[in-house]
Amino acid sequence: MGGVTDREADTGLPAAASVPFDLASMRKQYRAEGLSETELAATPVEQFARWFKQAATDGGLFEPNAMVVSTADERGRPSSRTVLLKHFDEQGFVFYTNYDSRKARELDANPYVSLLFPWHPMARQVVVTGVARRTGRDETAAYFRTRPHGSQLGAWASVQSSVVADRRALDAAYAELAARYPEGEQVPVPPHWGGFRVVPEAVEFWQGRENRLHDRLRYTAEGGGGWRVERLSP
Ligand SMILES: Cc1cc2nc3c(=O)[nH]c(=O)nc-3n(C[C@H](O)[C@H](O)[C@H](O)COP(=O)(O)O)c2cc1C
Repeated sequence: MGGVTDREADTGLPAAASVPFDLASMRKQYRAEGLSETELAATPVEQFARWFKQAATDGGLFEPNAMVVSTADERGRPSSRTVLLKHFDEQGFVFYTNYDSRKARELDANPYVSLLFPWHPMARQVVVTGVARRTGRDETAAYFRTRPHGSQLGAWASVQSSVVADRRALDAAYAELAARYPEGEQVPVPPHWGGFRVVPEAVEFWQGRENRLHDRLRYTAEGGGGWRVERLSP
């Protein structure tokens, strides 16, 4: 273990030599155009659709549908990972995964979830919080059929989130499946694989503004399908 340098002792921060960038001075000025209450859509899904369209067309994002899914286990310990959004509408936000994975096991025990879309090049962020439920098998099968053959095999080959001996073991599992289901042959939907639909309880739209005075507008579900909109301090 290394000793504590003077800088560490003085500031509690790690020695500058161990950090290749001056993180403390890394910051961007965000754009001036804001997000106002008057321009917001009637529902958060409509508003999300507007922003998603912009993110997907001229947002400069590699994968605008990549989102950070955060779950917590039954004792409240959180965990996060990136997952691809595959569908959204007024019924909710859908992603697909392995039902034996850590996230799926956590959601089965505690369905409260957060989805975060980090649209940094646009100085935007959307955070959805809500409740996740497994999608029906028909819906899962319909989506599974649209996946490339190799991804379908991958869903069988990976025991997601479990410890695997080495890369060779994964490749061997895949090769065995590829021999059993050659290209053109229908791959069955794995019983341990499927979707989650997140029904939003609150959705916050964050737009970066100058001088850190950002716009934050949050929709919160009210009974009967209505939404309350509030502005949050940045
Ligand atoms: C860009 C990106 C997209 C991903 N999309 C998915 C996805 O759609 N479904 C999925 O199960 N994992 C996806 N992953 C992998 C997850 O981040 C994660 O490693 C995996 O689901 C296991 O997570 P868990 O062990 O916390 O359950 C993606 C990772 C990245 C970086």
